[in-house]
Amino acid sequence: MQVSLGQIDHLAGVIRSRGEQQPRIGIILGSGLGRLADAVNKASLIPYQELPDWPTSTIVGHAGRLVIGELESQAVLVMQGRVHYYEGYSMAQVTLPVRVMQRLGIEILVVTNAAGAINPDYLPGDVMLITDHINLTGMAGLNPLIGPNLDEFGPRFPDMSQAYDRELSALARKAAAESGILLHEGVYVGLSGPSFETPADLRFLRVAGADAVGMSTVPEVTVACHGGTRVLGFSGISNKANLDGNTVTSHEEVLAAGQVLAPKIETILRGVLRQL
Ligand code: HPA
Repeated sequence: MQVSLGQIDHLAGVIRSRGEQQPRIGIILGSGLGRLADAVNKASLIPYQELPDWPTSTIVGHAGRLVIGELESQAVLVMQGRVHYYEGYSMAQVTLPVRVMQRLGIEILVVTNAAGAINPDYLPGDVMLITDHINLTGMAGLNPLIGPNLDEFGPRFPDMSQAYDRELSALARKAAAESGILLHEGVYVGLSGPSFETPADLRFLRVAGADAVGMSTVPEVTVACHGGTRVLGFSGISNKANLDGNTVTSHEEVLAAGQVLAPKIETILRGVLRQL
C-alpha cells in the first residue's frame, strides 16, 4: 500500500493539535526498549489507534503509542513501539511515521532496535552505535523509496554515504565514555524476518561485514535520509547470533535483554540530548 502526502499531512495535523510543543527530535524505541518513554516529562500520550492510518504493532514488546514531551529539556516525540515489514505492512506503511515526523519539522531521528550479535566480541546486554547499515531487503527489491518519488521530501536518488550522522555519533561516543558505558561501533544489517537466521545466513552476513542483525531500522533510516533528517542509531545487543548452530534464539530472550539495555541506552541518549 502506498501512502499519499495528504495522509501524511493529515496525521501531522492531528498530532500537532494534540501535542503541547513542537518536537525537534524523534525517537523510535525497538523491541523491549519501550520503557525509555517513561522518562519523558510533561508527556502527552497518543495511542496509535487514535491516529488514522498509523500502523499498529501486533508484536509483544511494542506498546503502540506516541509520547510527546521533554527529555533533558529537549522537545521529543517518542514512538513507543514500531511496526515491521514482516507483520504484513507495506514499506510505505512501515516508514509512514518517519514521513509524519518530517512534516512535523523534526530534525533528528534516533532509532533503536534489538539486534543479534554477529561480531564475536559483542555480548548480550552490550550497546552498539550504528555507524552504517547493509540494506539487504532493499537490495532484494524492498526499498521503501520504490514508487513515485515524493519530491516534497527529497530527490529520486538520495545519497546514503553518511546515513548515520557523524556529529551526533561523536556526541554519543562522548556521552557513553562519560558514563562509563561500553559502546561498540558497527554495521547493522536489516533483514525482513520474521524467522531468525540460519547459521549459514549468519556466516554469510559476517563475511559481508555486518556486526549486528535485526528486522527493522533500515527502511526508517532510508526514508529519514531521503527527507534530510539527521539520524543517530543504537542497537541493543539482545542475543548472540547462532553462527555455529549450537544455540537457539527466541523472542523472549530478545525482550529480556531490554531490561539491561534500556537503562544504558537511556543514559547515552540523555547525554546526547544534553549536548544538543
Ligand atoms: N536476528 C534477527 N533479528 C533480531 C535478532 C537476531 O538474532 N535479535 C534481535 N532481533
